[in-house]
Amino acid sequence: MSELVIKNGKIVLPERTISGDILIAEGKIEKIGKNLSGGIILDVKGKYVLPGLIDAHVHFREPGGSNKEDWFTGSSAAAAGGVSCVLEMPNTQPPTVTGELLNEKRKYARRSVVDYGFHFGASTSNIDELRRVEGIASVKFYMGSTTGSLLVESDAILYEQLRVLAKRNIPATVHAESERMISYLTNKLRSTCRIDAEAYSEARPNMSAAEAANRILSLTKLAGNHTHLCHVSTKEEVDILGIYRANAQVSSEAAPHHLFLTKKDYKELGTRAKTNPPMRSKEDQDALWKALMNGTIDMIATDHAPHLLDSKDWGIWEAPSGVPGLETMLPLLLDAVNHDRLTLEQVARLTAENPARIFSIKNKGQIKAGYDADLTIVDMSLAKKVENDKLFTKCAWSPFAGRKLKGWPVKTIVRGNVVYDEGTINKNKGEEVRYDRFS
Ligand code: NCD
Ligand code: ZN
Ligand code: ZN
Ligand code: ZN
Repeated sequence: MSELVIKNGKIVLPERTISGDILIAEGKIEKIGKNLSGGIILDVKGKYVLPGLIDAHVHFREPGGSNKEDWFTGSSAAAAGGVSCVLEMPNTQPPTVTGELLNEKRKYARRSVVDYGFHFGASTSNIDELRRVEGIASVKFYMGSTTGSLLVESDAILYEQLRVLAKRNIPATVHAESERMISYLTNKLRSTCRIDAEAYSEARPNMSAAEAANRILSLTKLAGNHTHLCHVSTKEEVDILGIYRANAQVSSEAAPHHLFLTKKDYKELGTRAKTNPPMRSKEDQDALWKALMNGTIDMIATDHAPHLLDSKDWGIWEAPSGVPGLETMLPLLLDAVNHDRLTLEQVARLTAENPARIFSIKNKGQIKAGYDADLTIVDMSLAKKVENDKLFTKCAWSPFAGRKLKGWPVKTIVRGNVVYDEGTINKNKGEEVRYDRFS
């Protein structure tokens, strides 16, 4: 493979941003410095160079839901959003709960244009699979029901499975909502004939997320494993994380739709804003931002959950849950940087460095010699609206459509290949990541 030099970039390193060049050879960062030469020159004068984003939480729907998304469209959406690596969730049909099904999914993923890894599913009966599965980012537990059929409610089974993961040094990722609370409240609200979108947030209130978070982290402390809490959405979960972070192996993520939308947006978006966990209050949103700034929450991950628009417009109890997010996460964050809500170094830490560290992804997450040349070039002064008909996701809509944002990715480079280039997707063969802990 030929060499590539990225010239005149403002390179975002973990602690500071420097002006200079990046020499890439064989898909790896060879050198960062001044006046570098060799091979093809890509002049990015005036633009910032971020480590390629790693999205630790996406749903690509293959097998079983390729009308909503497939690995080509989903990974194209990733590249267009500055995301060079995704970790995909197991709630497909069938769910990824055996080694054989994981290998099946690997075949679909060959069409990915970005690099990728897999979260494996926990079911109530697959502990033997958990004892032997290799090459996964984590084992995912659904404590409350959501899209798909995966659900583990029993504390006994949860504990038993967490013990296996503790011994094998594999993280657990957890969708923490209390099934008991949400099924009781959903039945109650439905029987009173509530059909407004706000009713969905009442059916899955803060307490249902907090109770499940508290329970899984308590089991985690006893089992001695590492648990990563997905899509933290409430101030109560932030408080609970604060307690357990001190004496258990805990990490967590927040989703862009909880950072940039609240219950108030039901007015405009209606059932399109239906997602699990649901829309929360401004107070919860403020707590999430604060937790990202002080390190209580470690990363931002999209929970990209594509569903077709006509189904999203069914009633509040019938519409599927989830919103797409891959193409809007980085523009929303860059716009927030332009509004002085955070720095580019923080964006790099929350969307690349921390996900790579927490899931032990080999040679990714930082702009550093020897690491994969995964880079996202951003134009901080480009301002444009989010438009549904410009999106690469197959579901073809965004809850942020119509928002004008300043700060957009213009090129996404995966191991030295320019995969996204100002509106077009180039051919590329994404590869499965490796993990330091399996070696
Ligand atoms: C996700 C989906 O559609 O796969 N939906 C959602 O509301 N977030 C599943 C999930 O992450 O809970
Ligand atoms: Zn979830
Ligand atoms: Zn999800
Ligand atoms: Zn703005």
